[in-house]
Amino acid sequence: MYTQALNTAETGGPAGEDAALAARFQERVDADDRIEANDWMPAGYRRTLTRQISQHAHSEIVGMLPEGAWITRAPTLRRKAALLAKVQDECGHGLYLYAAAETLGASREELVDAMLAGKAKYSSIFNYPTLTWADVGAIGWLVDGAAIMNQIPLCRCSYGPYARAMIRVCKEESFHQRQGYEIMLTLARGTADQKAMAQDALNRWWWPCLMMFGPPDAASQHSDQSTAWKIKRFSNDELRQKFVDATVPQAEYLGLAMPDPDLVRDDETGSYRYGAIDWEEFRQVLAGNGPCNAERLATRRTAHEEGAWVREAAAAYAAKRAARATEKQAA
Ligand SMILES: [Fe+2]
Ligand SMILES: [Fe+2]
Repeated sequence: MYTQALNTAETGGPAGEDAALAARFQERVDADDRIEANDWMPAGYRRTLTRQISQHAHSEIVGMLPEGAWITRAPTLRRKAALLAKVQDECGHGLYLYAAAETLGASREELVDAMLAGKAKYSSIFNYPTLTWADVGAIGWLVDGAAIMNQIPLCRCSYGPYARAMIRVCKEESFHQRQGYEIMLTLARGTADQKAMAQDALNRWWWPCLMMFGPPDAASQHSDQSTAWKIKRFSNDELRQKFVDATVPQAEYLGLAMPDPDLVRDDETGSYRYGAIDWEEFRQVLAGNGPCNAERLATRRTAHEEGAWVREAAAAYAAKRAARATEKQAA
C-alpha cells in the first residue's frame, strides 16, 4: 500500500490562479487524459500528489522493517529467498515512488528528511510488531492484499508518472500476497501449534489492516477534491468493503476464524458486514503512539546516517563522470 487517507482538506490552487488554465486542466482530467510532469496543473493538485506519493514511498521503505526482521529467521531456504525478494521489491517500490514525486518538483532529500523528522506520515500498519513467523504470512496475505485493493485503481490515476509506477508495483504486490497466503496455508494445514500461530497472527493483523484504508467516509475530509481530480477513484469505505469481501472466503479456505463476532454475510448482496473499528487506536498510531512508531523511525534514522557514505560516493562518482564528459566534449 500504502496510501492512506491521512490528509486534511485540500482546495484548488491559490486565488488568482489562471481560471482558463484550471478549466482546461479539469476538462483533460474529465476526459481521462493523463497529466504529465511538464503540463500545467493547479498548485493544490501538485501539493496533494506530492504528499500522497511521498507518503506512499515512505510506507514502502518503512514497510521493509517488520518483515526484514524475519529474513535471518525464515524456516527454510525457499522461504528465505522469497522473503528476501519481497523485501527488495518494497525497496524498489519506494524508489519508483520517490522518483515519481520528484517529477512534481520536490527533492528526494527534502521528502526523506520530512519522514525522518517525523513530519511526513507513512502507513499506520507498519507500526505493529512481527512477533512470529506467521506474521510474515499474515502481512503478505492481508497487508499486501489491502495494498492491492488500494493500488489497482491508482493505475488509472490522472497523474501519468504515478499511474505508470503503480502498474509494475501492483504486479509485484500480487506475488507478495500469494507468498503470504501460501505461508498461512502451510501453517493452517500443519500441526495444532502452527495453526494456532496462524490464527494468532490473523487476530492481531485483521483490525489494523481494516484501518489501512483510512478513516470512514463520513470523517474523511479530502476525498471529494481527490475524486474530482481522479487521484482517488473509490472511497475509503468502498475499498475496505471490497477487501473484506475478498478476504473472508480466503480465511474460510484456511480454516481460520475471523476475529470479529459481528461479521455476517448479507445474503442479498453477498457482502460481509463487519463490526466496529477502533478508530481511537488508529488515531493513537497516527499520532506516533503505536507499538513500534519510535522503533521504526529510530531504525530508519540510523540506516540513513550509516548510508551517508554511499550517497556521498554516488554523488562524487556522478560528478566525476560529468566532468569527464565535459572534458571529452571540449577535446
Ligand atoms: Fe510495495
Ligand atoms: Fe508488497
